[in-house]
Amino acid sequence: SFVKHPRHLKLASDGLMPHWDLAQLQRGMQVYKEVCSACHSLNLVAFRNIQDLGYTEGQVKSFAKGFQVPSINPDTGEPATRDGLPSDHFPAPYANEVAARAANNNALPPDLSLITKAREGGKDYVYSLLTGYQNPPANLPKELRPGTGLHYNPYFPNLNLAMAKPLSDGQVTYADGTRATVDQMAKDVTAFLVWTAEPKLVKRVQVGWAVIGFLLIFTVLTYLSYRNIWADKK
Ligand code: HEM
Repeated sequence: SFVKHPRHLKLASDGLMPHWDLAQLQRGMQVYKEVCSACHSLNLVAFRNIQDLGYTEGQVKSFAKGFQVPSINPDTGEPATRDGLPSDHFPAPYANEVAARAANNNALPPDLSLITKAREGGKDYVYSLLTGYQNPPANLPKELRPGTGLHYNPYFPNLNLAMAKPLSDGQVTYADGTRATVDQMAKDVTAFLVWTAEPKLVKRVQVGWAVIGFLLIFTVLTYLSYRNIWADKK
């Protein structure tokens, strides 16, 4: 088959001792905002959630204010927009599915909030997809070649998808001076999408360790009290 197995993406949030690389998550959010948000929504994330990425309340407020969110004109009842508030969620780029498909060759850009959980291969798949665009191999049968408006990517289960290569070198200018190669931006935005899909991941694992520690101590205590209770019954 021409479909490739995803390449592994190693992140700070992997494994049994995970942590968030906040600088990376901030860069990833920048990539989402400046590139992906033109087509993809992030319905499950509220602006106030990004305080967990190391932004202050004031920064969150002015970040939210930079977005226009749907609202209703109180005088006329007509649909309108207003400045974003920290309690708003990231606004969707299109008014509805019809508009989204109309702008994307009839394909629907999926919401990205849970994408690293929703697709087989998870974060590895998302990272591989973003870095995997290439020309179709010479021996690719005619019926597998990209049709009009489709783009060849060996990591996509169908081989051809409606999303054109979204990243190219230098596409964003990182605030922290990191060089914005395709690989770097793909890693960063994927790390960010791991966070959006499970913002409590690190906390969950930490609580798990605390629970195991408590149970171990409790096991010892139970054993000692058992010995103590039966001490004179031998
Ligand atoms: C699909 C990520 C930018 C349009 C997808 C998929 C992912 C993704 C993970 C799902 C593939 C699947 O179904 O398995 C991203 C990321 C972006 C980005 C992380 C930013 C770096 C864009 C942009 C556009 C776009 C800028 C529009 C110009 C689409 C469309 C699909 C899609 C139309 C559906 C493709 C199909 O089903 O054939 N994207 N995307 N994406 N994306 Fe993007």
